[in-house]
Amino acid sequence: MKVSDTIAALLAENRKFAPPQEFAAKAFFNDPSVYDRAAADPVAYWEEWARKLDWFEPWTKPLEWNPPFAKWFVGGKINACHNCVDRHVAAGAGAATAIVWEGEPGDVRSLTYEELQCEVARAANALKALGVGKGDRVCVYMPMVPELAITMLACARIGAAHSVVFGGFSAESLEERIQDAGAKVVVTADGGWRRGAIVPLKKAVDEALELGCPTVEKVLVLRRAGEPGTVTNGLATPEYDRGSWVEGRDVWWHDLVPGQSAQCPCEPMDSEDLLFILYTSGSTGKPKGIVHTTGGYLTGVSATFRYVFDIQPEDLYWCTADCGWITGHSYVVYGPLANRAHVLMYEGAPDTPDKDRFWRIIERHKATILYTAPTAIRAFMKWGTEYPERCDLSSLRLLGTVGEPINPEAWVWYHQHIGGGRCPIVDTWWQTETGQIMISPLPGLTETKPGSATRPLPGVSIGIYNDLGEDLYAEHIRRVQAGEATDSVGGYLVLTQPWPAMLRGIYGDPERFKRTYWSRFPGAYFTGDGAKVDEEGYVWLLGRVDDIMLVAGHNISTMEVESALVDHPAVAEAAVIGKAHELKGQAIAAFVILKAGYQGGPEIVDELKAHVAKKIGAIARPDDVIVCADLPKTRSGKIMRRLLRDVAEGRALGDTTTLADPNVVNALKDKYESAG
Ligand code: WT7
Repeated sequence: MKVSDTIAALLAENRKFAPPQEFAAKAFFNDPSVYDRAAADPVAYWEEWARKLDWFEPWTKPLEWNPPFAKWFVGGKINACHNCVDRHVAAGAGAATAIVWEGEPGDVRSLTYEELQCEVARAANALKALGVGKGDRVCVYMPMVPELAITMLACARIGAAHSVVFGGFSAESLEERIQDAGAKVVVTADGGWRRGAIVPLKKAVDEALELGCPTVEKVLVLRRAGEPGTVTNGLATPEYDRGSWVEGRDVWWHDLVPGQSAQCPCEPMDSEDLLFILYTSGSTGKPKGIVHTTGGYLTGVSATFRYVFDIQPEDLYWCTADCGWITGHSYVVYGPLANRAHVLMYEGAPDTPDKDRFWRIIERHKATILYTAPTAIRAFMKWGTEYPERCDLSSLRLLGTVGEPINPEAWVWYHQHIGGGRCPIVDTWWQTETGQIMISPLPGLTETKPGSATRPLPGVSIGIYNDLGEDLYAEHIRRVQAGEATDSVGGYLVLTQPWPAMLRGIYGDPERFKRTYWSRFPGAYFTGDGAKVDEEGYVWLLGRVDDIMLVAGHNISTMEVESALVDHPAVAEAAVIGKAHELKGQAIAAFVILKAGYQGGPEIVDELKAHVAKKIGAIARPDDVIVCADLPKTRSGKIMRRLLRDVAEGRALGDTTTLADPNVVNALKDKYESAG
């Protein structure tokens, strides 16, 4: 058997999960004809969704496409905040719950749509009082508290663009992002709770502004942590660095916002006006400010939220992502609120005070939908089933994942131990750049296979290209439909038609925009991901193409080897890289975390090597297996393979500033070197 065949065998999960009948019966989409209808005229399909929003003035042209520049709903006038808040109040739903929030100390706040409207209007007037107007940029560097969403909406209300920077980023990263966006105001908090400690946000803002940032005129500071000793739900704020107070620049939120009028009109924005910038780290060089505009973005996220999560009026929806990521923008704030959903938000860590925190939250608030990341799910698996088992998770009816390929073992664990075997799982593929979910099951319609994101959503066109830029996808799907396909094909994942929430550029750098996404395959958007489509037409994401190894002339994806490793009962998590090798081109090195109760040592190392060889083929047998306690991850949970390659190839470590915990990789380096 060829290696590619064995890999296909590994990925061809036999297990299939049909939507439960009861779920399908009530689901928003349960008729497959929607795919054909959307494919026949994708622009008309998206227009139908745009019409469900409130527009101050209609568009004159649905799409203007001058590759790579798209304009959606040209000439339309719209306001994102109006659509997320005011129109629901106007429709009589002011008393409905918008946000239920739980702080890490266990304090709870709940806001109705009417209360949200008042809070947002006051915050918007406060921003105006600080000199913010239409077209300005506001940097938001806050903990996961309701005021974070309120600030985003307040910006949208007055036509200022927000640039949310995740509270885990350092002062230097913050400074770089503030400067690039030319922000006029920074909105922050004294600190936020994380793992029982206070993240000193205001201190980081002080440092960032000392480093530069001449455009910043004012800093608006929410009091969240308070003075050390302040008691929140029985927990005293520990000591933390509160930074300094700069008179004339710094303004307390509680001194400015509550006194503002609760009347503030929503600025009519052009459909293509900037809604926000969100920075995403490039593999090299400075972060890219991804530009999203108003009408198309709101259409894309409100539509996909509606049908991917099959939202029903009684649902309580919880997406665990921080608003500092695109997931928080599209599926905590804009998508859900545009649908008048009830949204749960949580401030802190999943293991504080104990490893059952997420399950306690679901039990307490009776959440019905949970959307989280594979890296979190693997951590839960490692911690063990006792934590979910001690909580009542019977309110859940739908689960979702996003952020990286989910290995089938984690999928099945999530399905069984969190979903109780009854909840469909939507594995949603998308990017900061796509703005909206692109590839995902429809939970009432799609039979799922663990590990596959299944197929592109209605209205989305993908391609899988080979090195020559030839599309393999369309022909393969034709063969699948004709019953002729017996194999799978793989290559580079591209998007072949514009979609409403697509990025409009990289802030201030159109050349980089063209070069990064549109130069590899002219006319198509290159995602940077590899993908396969199997004999039934299911799409399998293979990770970033820079994560494909070339071992003795064979392409092997790091994810395939990782998947084989975590299939072994002893392995909780694995990261695989290709390291330079004289003979083979690349050799495989695997870093593994063992489950509780398993010990490292030469036996397990040999066993794991043999296990991979058995699952994939001898060609994929790792040269090195290193048992470790932790893996170097970014703050969004992505494994930094670049650093693992540095370790395996014995180089000095490259840039480690975006790591969640830089100590992890230093410890690994020592361990690798001492293992010889
Ligand atoms: C990259 C985008 C989209 C919000 C979070 C990440 C990977 C994302 C999946 C998935 C396989 C996935 C891709 C993509 N990715 N979701 N369901 N299956 N891979 O946003 O930081 O812009 O990262 O995450 O590699 O390109 P991001």
